[in-house]
Amino acid sequence: MGEKKSFYVHPTAVVEEGVQIGEGTRIWHFAHVRKGAVIGKNCNIGKDVYIDADVKIGDGVKIQNGVSVYRGVTLEDKVFVGPYAVFTNDLYPRAFSKDWELVPTLVKEGASIGANATIVCGVTIGRYSMVAAGAVVTKDVPDYGLVLGNPARLVGFVCYCGRPLRKITDMDDVFVKYICKHCGREIKVKRKDYERMLKESRRLS
Ligand SMILES: CC(C)(COP(=O)(O)OP(=O)(O)OC[C@H]1O[C@@H](n2cnc3c(N)ncnc32)[C@H](O)[C@@H]1OP(=O)(O)O)[C@@H](O)C(=O)NCCC(=O)NCCS
Ligand SMILES: [Zn+2]
Repeated sequence: MGEKKSFYVHPTAVVEEGVQIGEGTRIWHFAHVRKGAVIGKNCNIGKDVYIDADVKIGDGVKIQNGVSVYRGVTLEDKVFVGPYAVFTNDLYPRAFSKDWELVPTLVKEGASIGANATIVCGVTIGRYSMVAAGAVVTKDVPDYGLVLGNPARLVGFVCYCGRPLRKITDMDDVFVKYICKHCGREIKVKRKDYERMLKESRRLS
C-alpha cells in the first residue's frame, strides 16, 4: 500500500526531486517547484507559480497565481503574495553576464504583498506590513508599514488584521500606539518609523 501524502500536488504541477513540502499544503495547476525548495505546512501555491531552487517558504504562506519566487527570496510564515507580484534577484541584469551577484530579499512573518507589486531585490519587508497593489518597493518596509506607489513610499501603518491604522492613542520617544477601528487591537510602531512615514507621505502631497 502506498503511503498517503499529507499534501496535495495537482497532476499538472512539476515538483522536482528533493523538495520538502509540509502537511496540508496545496500546489495548484502548472506550478513548478525546483529542487531543494522547502515549503512549510498549510501553504497555498497558486496556478502558474514558480518556486526556484533552494527557496525557503514558511508555514501558512499564500502565493497567488503567476508569481515567481526566485532564488534568494525567503518568505517567512503567513506571508501573502498577491497575483502577478514580481520578485527579482539581480540588481544589474545582463543576458550575457557570467558573474552576476544574487541579491537576497526577506519577507517577514505575516507581511502581505499586493497584486502586481514589484520587489526590487535587497530589501526586507517587515512583519505584518502591507505593500499596496502595483507598488515598486526599493527600500526596506518597517513592521506594520503600508507602502504604495512607484517608488513605494511609507504612507501609514496597518493592523495585524490588514486594515489601515488611523487612530493614535499614545506616543513616546520610542513607540507610537495605534488602535484599530476594525478589530480593536492595539499596535505599537517604532517612533523612528513613524517619523519616516511623516516625511515620506509629505513628499507625496
Ligand atoms: C493601499 C490599500 C491597502 C488601501 O488602503 P486604504 O487606505 O483603505 O485606501 P483608500 O481607498 O482609502 O485610498 C487612500 C488613497 O490611496 C490611494 N490608493 C489606494 N490604493 C492604492 C495603490 N494600490 N497604489 C497607489 N495608491 C493607492 C487612493 O487612490 C487614495 O488616494 P487619494 O487620497 O489621493 O484619493 C489597498 O488599496 C491595496 O492596494 N490593497 C491591496 C489589494 C491587493 O493587491 N490584493 C491582492 C489580493 S486580491
Ligand atoms: Zn485590526
